[in-house]
Amino acid sequence: MDAIMRRIFRWRLDRYKKRGLQIADDCRMEGMPMFGSEPYLVSIGKHCLLSGKVTFITHDGSTFVFRNRPEYSDVIKFGRITVHDNCFIGYGVTILPGVSIGPNAIVAAGALVTKDVPEGTVVAGLPAKVMMTVDEYAEKVKAATPDYDRDLYKSDKRAELLRLYPYPW
Ligand SMILES: CC(C)(COP(=O)(O)OP(=O)(O)OC[C@H]1O[C@@H](n2cnc3c(N)ncnc32)[C@H](O)[C@@H]1OP(=O)(O)O)[C@@H](O)C(=O)NCCC(=O)NCCS
Repeated sequence: MDAIMRRIFRWRLDRYKKRGLQIADDCRMEGMPMFGSEPYLVSIGKHCLLSGKVTFITHDGSTFVFRNRPEYSDVIKFGRITVHDNCFIGYGVTILPGVSIGPNAIVAAGALVTKDVPEGTVVAGLPAKVMMTVDEYAEKVKAATPDYDRDLYKSDKRAELLRLYPYPW
């Protein structure tokens, strides 16, 4: 079943690429993002990780409301989304048109990215704002890392995680 799902995933990604999506071969995706109606306006650099339920929105369909008025009949509002090298896009993130992210940036779970994300920063929230630098976050994670058995973690991750975080009952 896994092999079939992987083939379907690969087929869908290839279709997006044929429609103009740029994504480096070494990127990882936890599920297929929504690349929107203009995948050719999305570019993703090297070594990026996209979590599940990530949405790229490359056009502002709200113009629908006033495009029937003659003075606005030919307005368009699109924007390229660029994710530079070595970025992490968290679960459930939505990225709006014209935004550029990174390089080396982290977008927190659930963020709504409306503006450019500076290089080397962690952003979160609706709309996404800078929380800290990636270097600060790395130090924070290091300081909070529990003392764990590296060998067991490699050979049996489940067992080691259940030792660290046992069932409550
Ligand atoms: C944003 C993130 C990187 C920060 O982690 P952290 O610094 O350890 O966060 P903490 O739990 O210490 O929280 C710090 C503050 O940020 C807030 N916060 C944490 N995650 C947040 C998020 N995703 N969106 C908005 N605010 C967030 C907390 O509420 C807290 O706020 P407070 O200071 O007002 O109390 C992390 O929470 C995150 O979202 N990681 C991505 C997870 C993910 O998408 N995983 C997918 C599987 S691959």
